[in-house]
Amino acid sequence: MLCNYVLLLVLCANFVFSDVIPAPKLKLRDGREIPSLALGTWLGNNTQGRIEPHSTEVEDAVSAAIDLGYRHIDTAYAYKVEDQVGRAVNKKIAAGVKREELFITTKLWNDRHAREAVVPALRESLDQLKLDYVDLYLIHWPVGQFGNQSYDYTDYVDTWRGMLEAKALGLARSVGVSNFNQQQIDRLAAAGLELPAVLQVEINLNLQQPSLLAYCRDHHIVVMGYTPFGSLFPSKAREDAPPPRVDDPALVGMGEKYNKTVTQIIVRYLLDLGIIPIPKALKPAHIAQNFAVFDFSLSQEDRDWLKTYDKGYRTIPQLKWLDHPYYPFEKS
Ligand SMILES: NC(=O)c1ccc[n+]([C@@H]2O[C@H](COP(=O)([O-])OP(=O)(O)OC[C@H]3O[C@@H](n4cnc5c(N)ncnc54)[C@H](OP(=O)(O)O)[C@@H]3O)[C@@H](O)[C@H]2O)c1
Ligand SMILES: *[C@@H]1O[C@H](CO)[C@@H](O)[C@H](O)[C@H]1NC(C)=O
Ligand SMILES: *[C@@H]1O[C@H](CO)[C@@H](O)[C@H](O)[C@H]1NC(C)=O
Ligand SMILES: *[C@@H]1O[C@H](CO)[C@@H](O)[C@H](O)[C@H]1NC(C)=O
Repeated sequence: MLCNYVLLLVLCANFVFSDVIPAPKLKLRDGREIPSLALGTWLGNNTQGRIEPHSTEVEDAVSAAIDLGYRHIDTAYAYKVEDQVGRAVNKKIAAGVKREELFITTKLWNDRHAREAVVPALRESLDQLKLDYVDLYLIHWPVGQFGNQSYDYTDYVDTWRGMLEAKALGLARSVGVSNFNQQQIDRLAAAGLELPAVLQVEINLNLQQPSLLAYCRDHHIVVMGYTPFGSLFPSKAREDAPPPRVDDPALVGMGEKYNKTVTQIIVRYLLDLGIIPIPKALKPAHIAQNFAVFDFSLSQEDRDWLKTYDKGYRTIPQLKWLDHPYYPFEKS
């Protein structure tokens, strides 16, 4: 009992006086700011398909993350966890965290691409989240598809007009897109519309996307990078996935040199690319590790080495949409 009490004191003291460094913020083209590291909340797929949410696993992860200093949460209507994210966020707000300090991102699903469907879809997400506004609303994919699986050929430029209406109503403070390619963003500009503040795409060691990042830098579009660990974990890697795995000797050696885990080396490297990594983790130790990356920096030599893992390899090609006219990725 006494022992437990002492342990609790030590833990609390650690928390209160811990030197967790907050994530620096990046400036968006619309004048707002965005925290440069986000917690991912997609439960992912296993061999049976989509992993369904079952209890409070995401709520607990988001609560732990906010306690640890995370201020940016990435979710989506399609993840079916907006209710859990909302419960955690509102609980933390009730406990004193300011709403303005938090940055909540969610996404419009493919079955709501009609221009007039966007605002109602966002209202549904807000209802799940129990929030008055989100900080960032993204078109999840340029590809439209109805609930009955048949394709919706609505031009994403029209969907984007709906997004701008959501922003004008104040329901989303910033708007952006996900899984769009360069030409698709160019079409938004060619239509005379405001550019997205953010592009969210897959970025990890095997898919570093240097030319897309350069394009976004030139257009002042901030990039959020999803699936930051790519094929690092053997349990998630497809057979054809290029190295590295988490036991890669060069990565392990680098971790030892900086006294950091391989995952921390990777998150740090992705930050150095100027993007916002979105590591997803349910385990508290993982959530903590992924945030403890603002107290060290990688040498140029190590960053050069990490660049060599870029093979243009995509873990989420969504080949099932290959025949949609707005399929965004290379078709080879
Ligand atoms: N826009 C899009 O189309 C799109 C697509 C995919 C993903 N996303 C977003 O990006 C987020 C991240 O991508 P992701 O979920 O595909 O994959 P990920 O973040 O690359 O990997 C998640 C996996 O890594 C494990 N992990 C996390 N931190 C770890 C650590 N420090 N040590 C060991 N293992 C660790 C997690 O384990 P535990 O959970 O067991 O802790 C989980 O199994 C998503 O959650 C979602 O928010 C967006
Ligand atoms: C996850 O599984 C679902 C159901 O099988 C599938 O429709 C979806 O495309 C999968 N997502 C990814 C990113 O592989
Ligand atoms: C699928 O749903 C859309 C939108 O509701 C409808 O227009 C279309 O006819 C449906 N297609 C099929 C094959 O049922
Ligand atoms: C290495 O990192 C661990 C975990 O963050 C920490 O407890 C330990 O003090 C560090 N060691 C050194 C030598 O800095």
